[in-house]
Amino acid sequence: MIAAIPLPVLVIGPDDRIRATNPPLERLLGTGLIGKHHITALRQPGIIDAIAAVRSTGISAKVRFVTRDHEKDTFYQVVIALSDADVVLSFEDQSAAEDVGKMRRDFVANVSHELRTPLTALLGFIETLTGAARDDPAARARFLGIMAHEANRMTRLVNDLLSLSRVEEDERVRPREQVELTGLLAAAIKGLEPQAAAADVTVRLETQVEHLSVPGDAGQLRQVFGNLIENGIKYGAAGKELVVTLHAPAHHLRLRGQGVQISVADQGDGIAPHHIARLTERFYRVDSHRSREVGGTGLGLAIVKHIVNRHRGRLLIESELGKGTLVSVLLPVESLS
Ligand SMILES: Nc1ncnc2c1ncn2[C@@H]1O[C@H](COP(=O)(O)OP(=O)(O)OP(=O)(O)O)[C@@H](O)[C@H]1O
Ligand SMILES: [Mg+2]
Repeated sequence: MIAAIPLPVLVIGPDDRIRATNPPLERLLGTGLIGKHHITALRQPGIIDAIAAVRSTGISAKVRFVTRDHEKDTFYQVVIALSDADVVLSFEDQSAAEDVGKMRRDFVANVSHELRTPLTALLGFIETLTGAARDDPAARARFLGIMAHEANRMTRLVNDLLSLSRVEEDERVRPREQVELTGLLAAAIKGLEPQAAAADVTVRLETQVEHLSVPGDAGQLRQVFGNLIENGIKYGAAGKELVVTLHAPAHHLRLRGQGVQISVADQGDGIAPHHIARLTERFYRVDSHRSREVGGTGLGLAIVKHIVNRHRGRLLIESELGKGTLVSVLLPVESLS
């Protein structure tokens, strides 16, 4: 019967020897265990004590059991229960839950760290303004300027976090509107004109089709291209061009159907290959110092990725060090059923 159970299961007889195992358990603890004393197979004091306790009280128990191989630790929750004179152990792999827990802790640590830096700066300036610089109008004006900058950074971080959680929430809901891309791209570029001018980057829009509508969420797609163009401006090179291209619709294998490619090409420093796969992780920055200087929190591409997923599209990043970066979004043109 236990051979049919997908979890590792171990049965210990009244003589404390192993009476039965199933294939998942053999993969976990090895073969040839039948007839051996359970201590030889289990070897972790916590679980051995718990087995003795279950035997004497008859009350089931749950304990943690860790296996180590050279790659990583695997955590199991083991339920120990009495069945007539036998003790039955079933092992449940908890690694996925542990990983989620770790991700959450990392996330909280990252957010706290990102907020602490501007907060520390603000507190420092408040102290200076109420003390040493109280009667210095020139210093006051300058410090208030920096304080506004830091406060803006915190606002942007909080806004990004909120939009990330919103996007994650409706990732499974398909967008229903039709969105016209030429106008959307032009508007996204226009919105970033001041930033482009300040960075001395010229943004050019090339369209291979007049008008093209795709099923989508206008606000979210605007955010996608806003983020990508902003990155092109921030990490592109001063005095150079940033080219945004709306390609003609075509069959795309990656979409298994008709799709449109929108690409943003800059002529900046580029990104080393080992970073590329990680760029869409939250808070991941190639050069966190430079990114922070230009006001980045490392959430932009994480948001982009989620929105593109929701649209059943693809995000592709190609880059060559010293040459520049090409970020493309593929979006399905036809409504998916
Ligand atoms: N076009 C690009 N050229 C070079 N590096 C880039 C480019 N786009 C993104 N990166 C790198 O990828 C990192 C992650 O980008 P992302 O947009 O997620 O965050 P950010 O721009 O730092 O902050 P945010 O977008 O939240 O303001 C950036 O910090 C930067 O190091
Ligand atoms: Mg960005």
